[in-house]
Amino acid sequence: MIQTVYRRRCRTLVEIGTYDGVHAQHMIETAGIFHPISDVEYFGFDLFELLTDDDLEKEFSKKPPSLAEVAQRLEGTGANVGLSVGYTSETLPKFVREKRNSGTAIDFVFIDGGHSIETITSDWSYVRELMNVNTVVLFDDYYSNTEPEVQEVGCRQLVDKLDRREYDVEVLEPEDHFTKEWGILKVRMVRATLRSR
Ligand SMILES: C[S@@+](CC[C@H](N)C(=O)[O-])C[C@H]1O[C@@H](n2cnc3c(N)ncnc32)[C@H](O)[C@@H]1O
Repeated sequence: MIQTVYRRRCRTLVEIGTYDGVHAQHMIETAGIFHPISDVEYFGFDLFELLTDDDLEKEFSKKPPSLAEVAQRLEGTGANVGLSVGYTSETLPKFVREKRNSGTAIDFVFIDGGHSIETITSDWSYVRELMNVNTVVLFDDYYSNTEPEVQEVGCRQLVDKLDRREYDVEVLEPEDHFTKEWGILKVRMVRATLRSR
């Protein structure tokens, strides 16, 4: 994630699933290496206090701290920070419409919010509308497992079906391993860009 922001000198960042804002802070600081920090824009999406126990289970998620805590952390960076609270199925459509209408180019999108296939598919359907030839989209949670526990979560089903004539898609190294009650969860990230014609 940081390498991608660094190598591509990204300035406008979108993160779906801001969580505690630690990675957001690192991404913003990385963007600030190449751009005045006041020009760096970060747009984060999360449920924060609205996340229910049902969401936690359905979205295979983690419980974030409060909005106030995360906002304080990110505002301290000096970047332009916008945090949007709510289900991305409701918050992303308006954001995408506004950015398209204002012609704002987004350099980097990290899709790491809800992990149900339904939510990832919905997030991608809006994010793809934001892409131009310079936009890079990073998906977290590409699971290489065959266990039934992870067949209905993660981005693999979506990524494997992406049209390679339209997108350049790379499943990235390294593979991370996390111990779960049922075994080892094997996770990789995926990078997608529009193919230049
Ligand atoms: C895995 S964490 C994100 C981690 C973060 N990207 C990082 O790198 O540290 C997933 C986050 O997505 C949020 N989330 C889950 N489902 C969501 C949904 N449907 N809409 C918005 N946010 C959601 C959760 O509240 C949680 O904070």
